[in-house]
Amino acid sequence: MDFNGKRIWIVGASSGIGQALARELARRGARLVLSARSVEPLETLATELGQGEVVPVDISDPESLDDARGEILANGKLDAMITTAALYDPGHVDQIERDSARKLVEVNLLGTLWFAQAAKGLLREGGQLVIFGSVAGYFGLPKGQLYSASKAAVINLVESLRVEYAPEIDVRLISPGFVNTRLTEKNDFDMPFVMEPDAAARRIADGLAGSAFETHFPRRLTWGLKLLQRLPYRLSLWVTGRM
Ligand SMILES: NC(=O)c1ccc[n+]([C@@H]2O[C@H](COP(=O)([O-])OP(=O)(O)OC[C@H]3O[C@@H](n4cnc5c(N)ncnc54)[C@H](OP(=O)(O)O)[C@@H]3O)[C@@H](O)[C@H]2O)c1
Repeated sequence: MDFNGKRIWIVGASSGIGQALARELARRGARLVLSARSVEPLETLATELGQGEVVPVDISDPESLDDARGEILANGKLDAMITTAALYDPGHVDQIERDSARKLVEVNLLGTLWFAQAAKGLLREGGQLVIFGSVAGYFGLPKGQLYSASKAAVINLVESLRVEYAPEIDVRLISPGFVNTRLTEKNDFDMPFVMEPDAAARRIADGLAGSAFETHFPRRLTWGLKLLQRLPYRLSLWVTGRM
């Protein structure tokens, strides 16, 4: 996709990768619709960029999404819609709290489903629906739950969407490795090949400008984890057991 003049909705633009992606796509000429739950950082970003329709939304609340969809459609259809919204609460499985587990699934999985359902009739013919998975969804990693499982489910959902929504909607999957954001601030371990959000945003925009279904990076990490996925369990679990 050539982003110049394209109208693109980003949910998750108030922070991290989504905010950096908004800056990168604006730099490439896109007209933006900026969303998240927190309004103030969205307004600050719109002022910084000198553009941007600010439309607050809680992706885990279908009514909030319906309202945002109506507000956006009132100004016409979109060329692309992107969601980076997710919660992350790393820890050991036996210490996962029920409420935070429910909330995480509501945002990461159900929120992604509601967002995908909102795409029909909101995107123009051939428009892009872009959903963020994670390399954490490639294989169940120690201390990665329930996030890891939610991202595995998101990857599975996007694989179905790619086929079900074609050809009128071009479904894309984004699989980042470690990126320095408030999300990964919670990690108490070394993050191999960790990137800054603006570098990640450039990789993502380049990926969306191309034709590949999945944009995964940094390749030194992602190819390793893709290999791990395909190893027999006696080898793959031996590897994760040493993580
Ligand atoms: N950082 C990494 O290393 C990494 C690696 C792999 C994959 N990812 C994925 O990349 C995406 C972005 O992560 P990030 O690191 O940029 O995290 P982040 O800085 O926490 O950004 C998440 C964004 O989502 C918004 N959000 C959260 N819950 C929402 C909800 N219910 N409704 C609407 N917006 C909501 C947040 O804004 P509000 O709180 O204002 O709503 C924020 O703008 C996520 O899907 C994450 O799983 C990140």
